[in-house]
Amino acid sequence: MGLNRFSLPVAAAIMMINASLLVQGCLEEERIALLQIKTSIVDPNHMGSPLLSWGNDALCCGWAGVSCDNITGRVNEIVLFSARGWFIDPSKGAWSLDPSKGDWYLNATLFLPFQELKTLGLRNNYMAGCVANEGFERLSRLNKLESLDLGLNNFNNSILSSLKGLSSLKHLYLEGNQLNGSIDTKDFDSLSKLEELDLSGNEIENFVTSTGFERPGSLDKLEILDLSSNRISDGNLSFLKGLSSLKQLHLNKNQFKGSMEMKEFDSLSKLVELRLEENEIQNFATSTGSERSPGLNKLEILGLSFNKFNDSSLSFLEGLSSLKQLNLDNNQLKGPMDMKG
Ligand SMILES: *[C@@H]1O[C@H](CO)[C@@H](O)[C@H](O)[C@H]1NC(C)=O
Ligand SMILES: *[C@@H]1O[C@H](CO)[C@@H](O)[C@H](O)[C@H]1NC(C)=O
Ligand SMILES: *[C@@H]1O[C@H](CO)[C@@H](O)[C@H](O)[C@H]1NC(C)=O
Ligand SMILES: *[C@@H]1O[C@H](CO)[C@@H](O)[C@H](O)[C@H]1NC(C)=O
Ligand SMILES: *[C@@H]1O[C@H](CO)[C@@H](O)[C@H](O)[C@H]1NC(C)=O
Ligand SMILES: *[C@@H]1O[C@H](CO)[C@@H](O)[C@H](O)[C@H]1NC(C)=O
Repeated sequence: MGLNRFSLPVAAAIMMINASLLVQGCLEEERIALLQIKTSIVDPNHMGSPLLSWGNDALCCGWAGVSCDNITGRVNEIVLFSARGWFIDPSKGAWSLDPSKGDWYLNATLFLPFQELKTLGLRNNYMAGCVANEGFERLSRLNKLESLDLGLNNFNNSILSSLKGLSSLKHLYLEGNQLNGSIDTKDFDSLSKLEELDLSGNEIENFVTSTGFERPGSLDKLEILDLSSNRISDGNLSFLKGLSSLKQLHLNKNQFKGSMEMKEFDSLSKLVELRLEENEIQNFATSTGSERSPGLNKLEILGLSFNKFNDSSLSFLEGLSSLKQLNLDNNQLKGPMDMKG
């Protein structure tokens, strides 16, 4: 009796430790490849880098930012946020960019050994591009790669063409980079599984639509598109036409002025959320006979704060039969609002 009471929990504990060893260990070849990443990237002065602890033990599935598939044991996630170029400034007690490090050019081939990789996160690393011939096109063989986070780096427009081969991607984050001017939509043609695209916080002015988004099939699974904090203006929205699955569209903080054409949104019959805050929009124009945009009849959330709507420019709201949340603060409204619906 006494013996059983003692030994059962001990046996259970030993079994649990064994199980966690199995879960946390990873394939030898992947452990070596991870250590290669560390050698190539680590910045010994950056005390906060997740890379510093890599290699302290052999349980690489438990290393900071690394996860493994719980059945195959193979690495399926590598997340290296703020891993390079930053240090904690003791005088400020805050993160600072180390200017002596300069732009970083990545060798993307370092990630090629991880055949089961689903998530790769390289956010906030002061990256400006890739080493010659070792760009993201090298990763086209990683056919499980679903999520790529390159946000808060210094990539320019040329990053887009290097992502062409990553046809399994569902989530792509490129916010806060240095994309500017015209974006060529054919760069997105092969990313036909994309569900979420974040291009906010760049200096994008328009999308060249001669080919690309308008072609049936490309980006027709896209549900979330964030283009906030760019320089897009009226008349430059024709690229929206092909995006028939879109549910959330963020166009706040751009350069829309005066009258905005409702027909720009005609094809967005699934749109639930439209963000247009912090522009200078005065009203919505419904140019042709039809009263309302057929596109917006599922719209539930409409953000129009910080624009230039006045009391006589709100008739478009009548057409929005599903609307549940409307933000109109900081416009030029005077009279009491007659909210319907
Ligand atoms: C294994 O991973 C899958 C997918 O992430 C998850 O749904 C499942 O709960 C996990 N199983 C165990 C035993 O952790
Ligand atoms: C990039 O990494 C791969 C894999 O580790 C290596 O074989 C190659 O030499 C590296 N390329 C450069 C330019 O460092
Ligand atoms: C964009 O980035 C690439 C890769 O770093 C670089 O070779 C190219 O000169 C940059 N283009 C511009 C216009 O700055
Ligand atoms: C875009 O940025 C590059 C530098 O990355 C610059 O050479 C180019 O003039 C910019 N283009 C526009 C349209 O602002
Ligand atoms: C799109 O934007 C560019 C740059 O802002 C502008 O020159 C052009 O006239 C716009 N296109 C249309 C169709 O209005
Ligand atoms: C309201 O805005 C419209 C433009 O949408 C403008 O023509 C009209 O003069 C404005 N009315 C007032 C009272 O400011």
